[in-house]
Amino acid sequence: MEVIIEQDYEQMSKAAARVVVRTLNEKPNAVLGMATGSTPLGLYQELVRLHREEGLDFSRVTTFNLDEYVGLSVTHPQSYHHFMYENFFQHVNIARQNIYIPSGTTSNYRSFCEWYEQRIEELGGIDLQILGIGSDGHIAFNEPTSSLSSRTRLKTLARQTIEDNARFFETADDVPVYAITMGVGTIMEADRIVLLANGAKKADAVAAAVEGPVTSMITASALQMHPRVKLFVDADAAGELQMRDYYQWILKNKPGAPPS
Ligand code: F6R
Repeated sequence: MEVIIEQDYEQMSKAAARVVVRTLNEKPNAVLGMATGSTPLGLYQELVRLHREEGLDFSRVTTFNLDEYVGLSVTHPQSYHHFMYENFFQHVNIARQNIYIPSGTTSNYRSFCEWYEQRIEELGGIDLQILGIGSDGHIAFNEPTSSLSSRTRLKTLARQTIEDNARFFETADDVPVYAITMGVGTIMEADRIVLLANGAKKADAVAAAVEGPVTSMITASALQMHPRVKLFVDADAAGELQMRDYYQWILKNKPGAPPS
């Protein structure tokens, strides 16, 4: 895992946006895996700015979102459908038919999850997956003890996640108990992954994910087994990393292009 420590949230978001830009420059019809929550908001704002001011083109891009709350309709203000349109999709030139978000209201979750996995495969897999991390170390809604080879499925949220996400709802009782989520195994098949974390509340989870053992107790730790993960953190989220100096040393001494 490449650990990139940025001084603040804005720098972190811009650095992650540059990875998306590089991906789209290399492959204009890339398949992007999208995350919701507060962490990627700055990244989405920067991508919207790049679209408006520098013509960053999403017309051939396909997206797959990681997860959705069960029971929330697409128009519910706290649904991830609503979040994605409000914060990103309606501001860029992505084709509506190229947007995939898990359904929180399907009548058959099992067949929906199978279909979702199948669509990812049919479209050639995810080229770049964006991830946040929960304070309990989850990626997507793969809560502690989720199988590290899990696929898209229904998942019961942990109390910690319900408490963390209660800030978006009127009360904790309004937070759905179930979500539909890509599995750890699904995420691990992405070609490249960008993991974002900011704020001191994430520092323990980040340290456990990067420097702890690979364990289903911290599903983000599975990313240690992925060959192409970039972790962008702000200084606060990097606060518990033991090898912080080494990560900065690596970046400082990163070899440039070899002499021709
Ligand atoms: C959201 C998702 C979650 C969040 C995580 C962090 O699509 O997959 O794993 O990334 O819960 O949430 P925030 O960014 O709100 O702290």
